[in-house]
Amino acid sequence: MATYEKQFCWSLLLRIYHWMFALSIVMLCVTGFYIAGPWTNTMIEGSPGWPMAWMRFIHFVAGYVFSGAVVIRLFLFIFGNAQERIWDVLPITPRNINNAFRTVLLYGYISDEHDPRLGHNVIAGTSYIFTLFVAVFMIISGFYMLFPEVAIWEKIGVTIFTSQQWARFIHHFAMWWFMTFAIIHIYLCMWNDIKEPEGLISSIFTGDKFVHK
Ligand code: HEM
Ligand code: HEM
Repeated sequence: MATYEKQFCWSLLLRIYHWMFALSIVMLCVTGFYIAGPWTNTMIEGSPGWPMAWMRFIHFVAGYVFSGAVVIRLFLFIFGNAQERIWDVLPITPRNINNAFRTVLLYGYISDEHDPRLGHNVIAGTSYIFTLFVAVFMIISGFYMLFPEVAIWEKIGVTIFTSQQWARFIHHFAMWWFMTFAIIHIYLCMWNDIKEPEGLISSIFTGDKFVHK
C-alpha cells in the first residue's frame, strides 16, 4: 500500500487569493449577465431600488475584490513560496516541459503515469497564468467603463481598446473565458483528486498536500 506524508504547499495568502478570485468571479458573471440583458428595458431600471442599480453596485464591489485578488497573485508570482512563483509553472525549463508532456498524456488517457510534484502541474499552471492575463484586461476595461473621465483610465483605455464600445465588447466576450475555465477547472480538480489521493481539493482550504513517501 502506498504511503503518503503531509507537506505544506499553499500559503494563507494564496488561499485567500483563490477564494477572493473564485467568489468574485461568480458574482461578476451573474451581475454582468444582468447588466448586459436586464429584465425590463424601461427608464426605471436605472433608478435606485430597481435590480439594475443593485446589480451594478454588486458588480463594482466584486470588481474591487477581483482587482485586489489579481494584485495579490501578481505579488505571489514573484514573492510567493517555491510552488507559487511563476518559474514553477512556466513551460520553459526542461523539468516543466517534461511535466507538460506527461500531463497531456495523462489527461488524454494515453498514460496512467502521474508525475508527482508538490505545486501545480504545468498545464494547470499555464492556464492560470493565461487567466491572470485575461483578468488584467477585465480590470482595465472595467475601470475604463467605470471612470471614463479619470485621466489615467481614459489614457490606458483609449490606448488599448480605443472606444468605450470596444472595451465593453471585449469585457463581455472575455467573461466566457472565465466561465469556461471555471467548469473545466472544477472538473479537473475533482478528476485529479479521484485519480491520485494527494488531497488536492482540501489543499486549497488547508494549504497541505499529501505526497508519496
Ligand atoms: C471576471 C471578471 C468580470 C466579469 C466576468 C465581468 C462581466 C461583465 C459583463 C458581462 C458586463 C456587461 C457588458 C455588456 O453590457 O455587454 C460588465 C459590465 C461592466 N463591468 Fe464587468 N466584469 C468583470 C470585471 C469587472 C471589473 C474588475 C470591473 C471594475 C470595476 C468591472 C466593471 C464593469 C463596468 C463599469 C461595467 C459597465 C456597467 C454599465 O454600463 O452599467 N467589471 N461586466
Ligand atoms: C468549488 C470550487 C473550486 C474548487 C474546489 C477549486 C479548487 C482548486 C484547487 C484544488 C486548486 C489547486 C489546483 C492545482 O494544484 O492545480 C485551485 C487553483 C486555482 N483555482 Fe480553483 N477551485 C474552485 C473554483 C475556482 C473558480 C470558480 C475559479 C475562477 C474562475 C478558480 C480559479 C483558480 C485559480 C486561478 C487557481 C490557481 C491558483 C494559483 O494561482 O496558484 N477556482 N483551485
